[in-house]
Amino acid sequence: MIIRGPNARRDFHVDPSDEIFYMLRGDMVLEYMQDGQRHQQVIREGERLLVPALTPHSPHRPPDTWGLVVEMKRTPEQTESLLWFCDRCHAQLYDVTMHVADIEGELKAAIEHFDRSVALRTCRQCGDVQPEQPPVPQHPLHAGLGPLIGRYPWPRPSH
Ligand SMILES: [Fe+2]
Repeated sequence: MIIRGPNARRDFHVDPSDEIFYMLRGDMVLEYMQDGQRHQQVIREGERLLVPALTPHSPHRPPDTWGLVVEMKRTPEQTESLLWFCDRCHAQLYDVTMHVADIEGELKAAIEHFDRSVALRTCRQCGDVQPEQPPVPQHPLHAGLGPLIGRYPWPRPSH
């Protein structure tokens, strides 16, 4: 699919298959969780990034950017999840597992449910409260904010 920024999201997507992010115009930032740590990776115009299956990732697309995302077609019995993490201490706040049959409806409902709930947005570990709406992403100023998780077409790390 081709996606135009901006998107204002803070949920992390867990896909049962690998995903490829290819920036057609402008730069974006992909946040991802690896080994319990939160990382950021800038994907610049013309670059591709392979996100290994089951890696929680959250794409942040500034305004007027265009990106191609390649995903595997899911089978009806597959599920995928959305996770939310604390901005301050990175503890997991909430998760939802969805079925392919009504993925768009379930995804929208899950995001709205989280945004409306102060209880869900409040970290039980450190007490930090996320705002009701996530901020609109801004253009990344720095390259290479975090370690690479596998740049296509190089082989992805095994884990
Ligand atoms: Fe926290």
